[in-house]
Amino acid sequence: MNILLTGGAGFIGSHTIIELNKSGHDVVVVDNLVNSNPEALNRVAAIIGKQVPFIKADVRDREAMDRIFKQHKIDAVIHFAGLKAVGESVSMPLEYYENNMNSTFVLLDVMRKNGCKNIIFSSSATVYGDPAIIPITEECPKGHCTNPYGQTKSMLEEVLMDVQKADKEWNVVLLRYFNPIGAHPSGTMGENPNGIPNNLMPYITQTAIGIRKELGVFGNDYDTPDGTGVRDYIHVCDLAAGHVAALQAIERQCGLAIYNLGTGHGYSVLDVVKAFIKVNGVDVPYSIKPRRPGDIATCYCNPAKAKAELGWEAQYGIEEMCRDSWNWQKKNPKGYDA
Ligand code: NAD
Ligand code: WQD
Repeated sequence: MNILLTGGAGFIGSHTIIELNKSGHDVVVVDNLVNSNPEALNRVAAIIGKQVPFIKADVRDREAMDRIFKQHKIDAVIHFAGLKAVGESVSMPLEYYENNMNSTFVLLDVMRKNGCKNIIFSSSATVYGDPAIIPITEECPKGHCTNPYGQTKSMLEEVLMDVQKADKEWNVVLLRYFNPIGAHPSGTMGENPNGIPNNLMPYITQTAIGIRKELGVFGNDYDTPDGTGVRDYIHVCDLAAGHVAALQAIERQCGLAIYNLGTGHGYSVLDVVKAFIKVNGVDVPYSIKPRRPGDIATCYCNPAKAKAELGWEAQYGIEEMCRDSWNWQKKNPKGYDA
C-alpha cells in the first residue's frame, strides 16, 4: 500500500517508515517539523537505502494536504502529527487544542474528498485516565484526562468513531500506545526531545551522559511494589511494527477497531533505572522528589487483542529498550543537531 504518514519525521513516525518499508509498503511523509528534525529522514534513508518523499507542510494547510492527495495515490493515512508534551499542554491549552483538533479535522475532510477513507490514529493510554481495570483491556472505560493533551486524544477518538459511524466506507484504527522508549538498534535514530525532557527514559539517558545532574524520581509513596510509578514501556521498533500489523485490519475492512499497543509488563521507575544501570554499566544518580501532579500509580495493558486479531506482540524486553536508548544517546549526544 501507499501510506501517508503525517508527523512522519517524529520519533514514532520515523521508526515506522522502516517497518513499513520492510513489509513492502511505500511511504509519503508530511510534517511541519515543529517538533522534529529532517535529519531523521536522512537516517531513515541510510537504513532503507532510499529517501522517502517528504513534504514540509502543516496538516492544517488544506491546500497543501489536497495537493499531496492529488499528487500521490494514498491508500491509507497513519496520523502521527500532533503536539504531545503533557506539561506544555497545561500552560498552552489553546495551542494544543487548535493544533491537534484542527489538523485532524482538515485531514479527515481532505481524505474523504479524495476518496481515501482508511486511517490509523496515534492514540494513547492516557485516554484511560486513572484506569478502572489493571491490566487495561480495550473494554476498560475511558477515564478523565487531567491535561489538554490527553483531552485532544480522547476527543479525537470520539470524532473518528463518529465519522466511521456515519459513513461505513471508513476504516478507522485507534492505536492506544503505552510508553514508547528505546531506539533503532543501529543507534542512528532515536528520540530527540527539545529542552528538558518530560519523559523518564530521555531524562535517564541525559543524566547518564552528564547533561542532567540527577534524575528526580517523582514519588515513592504510590501503592506499587516499590512505591514508584509503574508503566508499560514498549520498544519503539515494536510499536512501529504494530502499525504495519494494523494495516491488516484496514485491508480486511475492519470498520472501527481499537488496540492497546504495549507489552503487558509493568515496570516501576526504579526497575527501569536499575535495568538501565545493569545493562549499560553506567551510573544514573537519582533522588526521590515529590509526586508529579496528574501522575497515576499504575498503568499497563493486556495486549491480547492485538495478538489475537493482528498477530502482533512486542518482541523486545526492558533490557533491550535500555540498551538501545543508551546506544542512541551515546552516539548522538546532541540528538540530530550534532
Ligand atoms: P513527535 O513529536 O516526535 O512526532 C510528532 C510529529 O508531528 C513531529 O514531527 C511534529 O513536527 C509533527 N507535527 C505536529 N503538529 C503538526 C502539524 N500541525 N502539521 C504537521 N506536522 C505536525 O511525537 P511522537 O512521540 O513520534 O508521537 C507521535 C504521535 O503519537 C503523536 O500524536 C503523539 O501524541 C502520539 N503518542 C506519543 C506517545 C509518546 O510517548 N511518544 C505516547 C502515546 C501517543
Ligand atoms: C513515566 C514514569 C513518572 C520523568 C506520558 C504521557 C502519556 C504518554 C506517554 C503521550 C512516571 C516517572 C518521569 C522523570 C520520573 N504520552 N518519571 N522522573 O507520564 O507515564 O506518560 O508519556 O501520549 O500520555 O502522560 O510517562 O515517561 O513522563 O513517566 O520519576 O523525570 O516515570 O512519574 O511514573 P507517563 P513519563
